[in-house]
Amino acid sequence: MFLKFPVLCLIFHCAYCISHHPILIIVSYDAFKYNFFDTKLVPHMETLKKQGTYADYLLNVFPTKTFPNHHSIATGLYPETHGVLGNTYYDPKTKQVEHIGPQMFRYSNNVVPIWRLNEDQGNGRYSGSMMWPGAYYPYQGKNITYRQDFDDNMDWYKRIDTVISWVTDRKKPANLVMLYIEQPDTYGHIFGANAPQFKDMLRKLDNITKYLQDQLESHHIADKVNVVHLSDHGLITITPQTFINITQYMKGGTYTWAGATPCIQITPHKGHEEEIYTALKDASIKNGHFKVYKKQDFPKQWHYKNNPRSAPILVMADVGWGLDDMIEASKKYAKIFNFTLTNSSEFGVHGYDTSVADMHPYFMARGPKIKKQHKVSPFHTVDLFNLFTELLELPQMPNNGTLGNIVDILNDNKQGRYNVGSVVMVTVGGIVAGLFIIALITVIVLLIIKHRQNLTTVAALNKRFPQTFQNHIESQHLLDAEYA
Ligand SMILES: *[C@@H]1O[C@H](CO)[C@@H](O)[C@H](O)[C@H]1NC(C)=O
Ligand SMILES: *[C@@H]1O[C@H](CO)[C@@H](O)[C@H](O)[C@H]1NC(C)=O
Ligand SMILES: *[C@@H]1O[C@H](CO)[C@@H](O)[C@H](O)[C@H]1NC(C)=O
Ligand SMILES: *[C@@H]1O[C@H](CO)[C@@H](O)[C@H](O)[C@H]1NC(C)=O
Ligand SMILES: *[C@@H]1O[C@H](CO)[C@@H](O)[C@H](O)[C@H]1NC(C)=O
Ligand SMILES: *[C@@H]1O[C@H](CO)[C@@H](O)[C@H](O)[C@H]1NC(C)=O
Ligand SMILES: [Zn+2]
Repeated sequence: MFLKFPVLCLIFHCAYCISHHPILIIVSYDAFKYNFFDTKLVPHMETLKKQGTYADYLLNVFPTKTFPNHHSIATGLYPETHGVLGNTYYDPKTKQVEHIGPQMFRYSNNVVPIWRLNEDQGNGRYSGSMMWPGAYYPYQGKNITYRQDFDDNMDWYKRIDTVISWVTDRKKPANLVMLYIEQPDTYGHIFGANAPQFKDMLRKLDNITKYLQDQLESHHIADKVNVVHLSDHGLITITPQTFINITQYMKGGTYTWAGATPCIQITPHKGHEEEIYTALKDASIKNGHFKVYKKQDFPKQWHYKNNPRSAPILVMADVGWGLDDMIEASKKYAKIFNFTLTNSSEFGVHGYDTSVADMHPYFMARGPKIKKQHKVSPFHTVDLFNLFTELLELPQMPNNGTLGNIVDILNDNKQGRYNVGSVVMVTVGGIVAGLFIIALITVIVLLIIKHRQNLTTVAALNKRFPQTFQNHIESQHLLDAEYA
């Protein structure tokens, strides 16, 4: 009996502790640029990338900032439709500058993020968010089942352990989890992408990528879970010589300022519209390193105009240039992180046009529904929503992505979900599954009689069969040493 026990235990574990729906984990490393693989600092990520499907880069949405882009990934919609137009924006309804919060993300009840769509299908579908921007708030009046609000003090290994515990929950196993890590963005802003601190973050991200894979394997669910790794944008490194003071061109008290380098949303107070536009336009011609747009002239490909939250005037610094907020932020960073600010101090910036290669995010995916050792052409981050609905077998929703752009990622083509062949397979599969379930029930009854312990946690499994979960133990050790 003892020899047989681990096997039975694993059957029990797999059959009962993960969702019977397709499972997807979406992982975002903030500001992980498409070509950070070239640094050679992320060997584990490189290996996983080659094993599954990847694209050389993704085309994201304007502005190439965190909140607009995460919400476009989650909804398949352009910012003008989902309403998250910047990391901050001026709301004409509340007449104030709004920061992250439910009011930022819940612009309209017509916007249904992937986590809400998944749970709304019911029948045992549960969504989870580990700090994904915007997913903590209720949509259509409902919270998702598993939510962790942003907390940069929470250890990354613990974040992954928590995600795994949601996916393997006995009563409500999550079949969709959004996992967000705020690096290398934070250190990128403070130290620039050439700094040792930044490079260390890439190494840490590489380590947790491996840790996630190790955890899926040690739980014997690596072949059941689809994992999509991506980011929201890249970044470039700039120095204080390129910071431009634009407030000097406007009279104080005549406008509201929202957003951050390189794109500033200016809302002139009533009666000051032309005066401010003309002053900024003249300055931009003299200075030569930033541009000024009236709302009606916003480039069409920004998909940024058709929203009341979109400001009447937008100032865009040229690539490599920063604005007033960088003058302030660089001083603040130097003070908090104890370095001397010089003309050659480096800082990371993103938010430029989506055509700028340095703003491009990365994409790689693996799992049962994803092609192995395959490369696809670069596609748009608004296409990802269709990829998620296909992977999760959810109804298609109107959005700004193109289904055709992502089918090459999938193991079986789109029709595979519905065609006759699969019906036959489902029937045969059903009979086999039926027999299997009968066998399983017998096993479970035996198990319950013999061992009435809780078998679900890795800790419990570790105690009984430490040799099987060596990876887990090693990773736990890392956790204690590095990230307490
Ligand atoms: C969502 O959860 C929050 C607590 O995080 C709670 O205050 C709120 O009432 C919940 N909303 C709904 C609609 O359940
Ligand atoms: C990454 O993990 C290795 C061991 O697997 C460890 O030696 C190294 O210190 C870790 N690096 C970082 C930056 O956490
Ligand atoms: C820093 O750059 C500014 C603008 O280019 C210049 O005026 C100043 O002299 C420089 N300072 C030093 C210490 O090089
Ligand atoms: C920009 O210039 C104005 C006018 O000279 C000044 O009041 C303001 O402090 C400057 N802004 C920054 C961030 O240095
Ligand atoms: C900066 O220096 C102060 C005083 O020496 C210290 O308390 C603080 O922890 C340092 N900050 C960082 C980020 O190293
Ligand atoms: C984006 O999709 C939404 C929802 O289907 C639609 O209302 C909007 O017109 C689309 N935008 C563009 C530019 O096609
Ligand atoms: Zn970001």
